[in-house]
Amino acid sequence: MPDTHFGSRQIPLGDKQALVDDVFHKVARRYDLMNDLMSAGLHRAWKDALVTAINPPTKGRPDRLDEKPDKDFTLLDVAGGTGDVSFRTIAAGGSGTRATVADINAEMLAVGRERAFAQALDDVVTFVDANAEALPFADQSFDAVSIAFGIRNVPRIDVALAEMQRVLRFGGHLLCLEFSNVDVPGLDALYELYSFNVVPALGRAVVGDAEPYRYLVESIRRFPRPNAFAEMMRAAGLRRVSHRLMSGGIVALHSGWRL
Ligand SMILES: C[S@@+](CC[C@H](N)C(=O)[O-])C[C@H]1O[C@@H](n2cnc3c(N)ncnc32)[C@H](O)[C@@H]1O
Repeated sequence: MPDTHFGSRQIPLGDKQALVDDVFHKVARRYDLMNDLMSAGLHRAWKDALVTAINPPTKGRPDRLDEKPDKDFTLLDVAGGTGDVSFRTIAAGGSGTRATVADINAEMLAVGRERAFAQALDDVVTFVDANAEALPFADQSFDAVSIAFGIRNVPRIDVALAEMQRVLRFGGHLLCLEFSNVDVPGLDALYELYSFNVVPALGRAVVGDAEPYRYLVESIRRFPRPNAFAEMMRAAGLRRVSHRLMSGGIVALHSGWRL
């Protein structure tokens, strides 16, 4: 079996998922708080950009109540964790917007389900225990598929991309938000310092363990550069592939269509 990396460690590919699951099992209850602390709230702006690109139809939203949606708009949010992107998409879209959160980690899904229930959104946001490499959905069943800060964790990225393209309807949009590489002189050194010192220390203080956050930082370093990832999207059959960098390259928003 080929090797891969878990953070800086070289490991057999087949061992990666269990190690990733352990990370998210440890952080699930503090996951959303840590996102705010680590990114100083910036993850909200990155996710807003993602939701703008998902572009759910707005007919039937509170400010457009006089118009009825022609049909439902369905989003599949892969590696959707506690459901943040899905909740934001439901808030941005009209009354026909539906979201399915698919994640491999029961603990992350449990936090999301509680949140959906508390906001009375459990009829429009559904949580499904699923591996991105083997999605339990029919071909062409979603209008849009998103994956935010998730693809980096999946052992076989090419398999997951092929699955996401399979479940998209023709004309459907795949959006992938992922950490990238800071190439701005000065900012790169600062980012490195912050990532390797502040982030693990925050993890120790908030979650009680620095290790999951060392994994996070190392996994960002090892993720393919945006152009290489765009090639992987094309190889999976996606078309009109493009990306844009945000916050000096900290994050990249990748886009591709099933045409
Ligand atoms: C950094 S979190 C991102 C959560 C959410 N998308 C967000 O932006 O808030 C990564 C998520 O990927 C999930 N994950 C890891 N490997 C996966 C796989 N093979 N299939 C589905 N989900 C996976 C983890 O359980 C975790 O919830």
